[in-house]
Amino acid sequence: MEGKNELNGRIQIQGSKNAALPILAACMLIPGVCKLKNCPDITDIRYMCNLLESTGAQVQITNTVIHTGIDIEVDTRTVQDYRLPGQYVSAMRSSVVLMGAMLGRIGEVSVNYPGGCVIGERPIDLHLHGLEKLGAQIWTENRHIHAYADELKGAVIDFPFPSVGATQNVVMAAVTAKGTTIIKHAAREPEVIELCKFLNQAGADIELSEAYQTQGTLVIHGVELCRLHETTYEIIPDRIVAGTYLFAALAAGGDITLEHVPIEQLDSVCDVLTSMGAQIAVNKQDREIHLNAQKRDQIVNLPYIETDVYPAFPTDLQSPLIAAACVAKKRLVIKEKIFSSRYKIVEELQRMGAKITVQKDTAIVEGGRELEGRAVIAKELRGGAALVIAGLCASGITTIADSYFIKRGYQDIAGDLSRLGARISYVDR
Ligand code: UD1
Repeated sequence: MEGKNELNGRIQIQGSKNAALPILAACMLIPGVCKLKNCPDITDIRYMCNLLESTGAQVQITNTVIHTGIDIEVDTRTVQDYRLPGQYVSAMRSSVVLMGAMLGRIGEVSVNYPGGCVIGERPIDLHLHGLEKLGAQIWTENRHIHAYADELKGAVIDFPFPSVGATQNVVMAAVTAKGTTIIKHAAREPEVIELCKFLNQAGADIELSEAYQTQGTLVIHGVELCRLHETTYEIIPDRIVAGTYLFAALAAGGDITLEHVPIEQLDSVCDVLTSMGAQIAVNKQDREIHLNAQKRDQIVNLPYIETDVYPAFPTDLQSPLIAAACVAKKRLVIKEKIFSSRYKIVEELQRMGAKITVQKDTAIVEGGRELEGRAVIAKELRGGAALVIAGLCASGITTIADSYFIKRGYQDIAGDLSRLGARISYVDR
């Protein structure tokens, strides 16, 4: 990519990766055909489809008509195998949410332990604890986790931390458990709510009550498996992709409109962008966000931001924010409260001229830097997207190796940004 030109124009935002993945897993629970519209066409979604197929499910993928992604039809009537192949599980940590769905559907699952992750420790103790509370017997053998349940029974589960994945896993197992399950301190991310809405539409009985929205107490009344039925569901647009492009336009300057955006999920992000000097207008009816950042020299860092669980500033936008903070004026101190080592990309940004110091969970970004194009390495998904933002602002050519990390979450980052006037393309090696 060749930097230093503004972004202008309008693009449509893809379907949400983090909403689509657990909903695809949840199809496993439903003995019939479910159709998911507007899934993003990204590697992780293909991996999840492969995992479903490995159990005997039939998956059909077609291009969407209205939006940019793919429609996926999952027919689980032919499911028979409880073993999930290691190659996809180690490649994609979120495949662990299939455990709850498979326990609910066939009472058994075998999966290899998801490996370490570049963004920090990502244990699954809360997932396993929740499933055990529902009556699953879980044992580990040669890095393989086996879970088995004759019958799952509703229970009270109190999470010490509102983990997104663990909440989703337990919800899936609880849907067909006998009796009522109460999850205290459940995650309240929009992607958890979408999973519950999908399951309710398919016949589940999950209370999306005031107590859940305000305190995270989620109540699931178990229903018999035969009560679950086929359904069609549209995946929401991706708040993290939208946020990435907003930070890109803030940093590179310009005037962009994003179509098909989950506006109500982006409050904390828009607050940060506005405080940094962007002008933002939202059109709720048409689901559009307009960002104007033409006065580049007026973009100024906030002194302090921390990431936290929804609705606070999302950890997945921490790296894109850091990239923008490098070129904004003044200093930003950012504290990462969700993932311990989510600063792996700082080293690559430093090679482009960024001045950042990291002390444990806190990064100090000295703004007002002139970045220079370099050959850098993506290393992980959101960090890779941050390098794209840095490349847009840098003088000269930036090449990003291992861009497959970025393709795990962004359907077509180069195409989207090209449509906004960026000089960026994929190079096949
Ligand atoms: C999901 C998102 C990810 C996002 C994250 C936080 C998907 C596919 N991924 O990840 O993009 O950054 O939510 O919003 O939806 N933890 C434990 N034990 C557990 C589970 C989690 O200690 O059993 C810890 C993790 O190490 C981490 C924190 O809890 O420090 C948050 O993790 P969690 O909310 O579970 O994130 P994911 O579901 O993995």
